[in-house]
Amino acid sequence: MKRTFLILTVTSIFVASLSAFKPEPKTEPAVNINNTLTPKIATTQMSGGELLINKSDCIGCHHKINKLIGPSYTDIAKKYPNNDKNVTYLADKIIKGGSGVWGKIPMTPHPKVSQSDAKLMAKYILSLKK
Ligand code: HEC
Repeated sequence: MKRTFLILTVTSIFVASLSAFKPEPKTEPAVNINNTLTPKIATTQMSGGELLINKSDCIGCHHKINKLIGPSYTDIAKKYPNNDKNVTYLADKIIKGGSGVWGKIPMTPHPKVSQSDAKLMAKYILSLKK
């Protein structure tokens, strides 16, 4: 619903800008409007944790559904109930890294990720439980 509204807004800005640029309807202003608005729409649909994960190197080893080098986020969500204790445990593991839970391959530590960001990431992962 929110998205439809945004698209409608973008469309009307687009149409309005086209009529404003008569009699020379250049395509350039319309393209700029789309470029600046599209990422914002995508951003509002992602949770903070998902955004942080997408900006970090996690995607090199983890996928939402498929096992890569590390377990998929949905498999992690299946293994751990979504509670404070597990959010803290997983946030700690994201920062410190380690191995032995899913196999011998270690997860690299992420000392630059703050405790609060790591918790947001862990919360997002645990929220994927069906
Ligand atoms: C170099 C590859 C690699 C990168 C990069 C990586 N991981 Fe992992 N991750 C792994 C592996 C391998 C495991 C399994 C570790 C084990 O068996 O204990 C794992 C396990 C996990 C677990 C489950 C921990 C547990 O004890 O069950 C979480 C949560 C996780 N990763 C989140 C992340 C997040 C968030 C990032 C980005 C900040 C990230 N990982 C980056 C490889 C990686």
